[in-house]
Amino acid sequence: MNRKKVLAGNWKMNMHHQDAIDFFQQLKKTEFPVVVEVMLFPPSIYLTEAIHILSDKVKLGAQNCHTEDKGAFTGEISAAMLATIQCKAILVGHSERRMFFNETNDIIAQKVKRVLESALTLVLCCGETAEQRADGMHFSTIERQLRSAIADIKPEKINQLIIAYEPVWAIGTGQNASPEQAQEMHAYIRRMLAEMLGDEHAENIPILYGGSCKPDNAKGIFSQPDIDGGLIGGASLQLSDFISLIKALA
Ligand code: PGA
Repeated sequence: MNRKKVLAGNWKMNMHHQDAIDFFQQLKKTEFPVVVEVMLFPPSIYLTEAIHILSDKVKLGAQNCHTEDKGAFTGEISAAMLATIQCKAILVGHSERRMFFNETNDIIAQKVKRVLESALTLVLCCGETAEQRADGMHFSTIERQLRSAIADIKPEKINQLIIAYEPVWAIGTGQNASPEQAQEMHAYIRRMLAEMLGDEHAENIPILYGGSCKPDNAKGIFSQPDIDGGLIGGASLQLSDFISLIKALA
């Protein structure tokens, strides 16, 4: 199996400008194992500088895009515009977008389409709430989220796809999924991908875990057979933690 290993940092709405620039410059100077593809999703106002400083080493991405290509949508940014600044990836379907910005599976499916049309890497997030898990609805929730987003993805676009499984109850709570819980869901997602897209594609699509993944719990999580990396929030804000996570994955 030669699936790509991916370690992605999602800064969310954090970091002031000078701290961001310092981080980019330090990261550029830091040696890390080349077997890991490192991705970073800073706030979009810092993307141009991040790309300028880091693009030969790190794949830079945006945390969101609009459902349309252009037009009268004050405050918004499109996937097509992001592609023109050499942004390489976009996060879609993060639970914070679903929760705080009312993004439904339909809206997410439209964004997915835009990202794929723009030839960018799509990091598609999915995850169940604590309540859904308590009710035994975690598998069906993930299934619905994934099917509505990618069931009709064109075969030639499949290599743009990365999935991130992020249980909502684990995000920013310090309560990570156990390696066994995460592996169980990742294996389920891979079986679903096989059914939707075929075995070969399912074997090649990286599936990342996200949710309170830190240097002290990462090894156990990353050693699971269907976990190909991490989408890291809090621990991506400290360079030393971020580098430790890259090394743990390598
Ligand atoms: P966390 O966030 O690592 O701070 O839990 C993960 C994410 O939301 O992508």
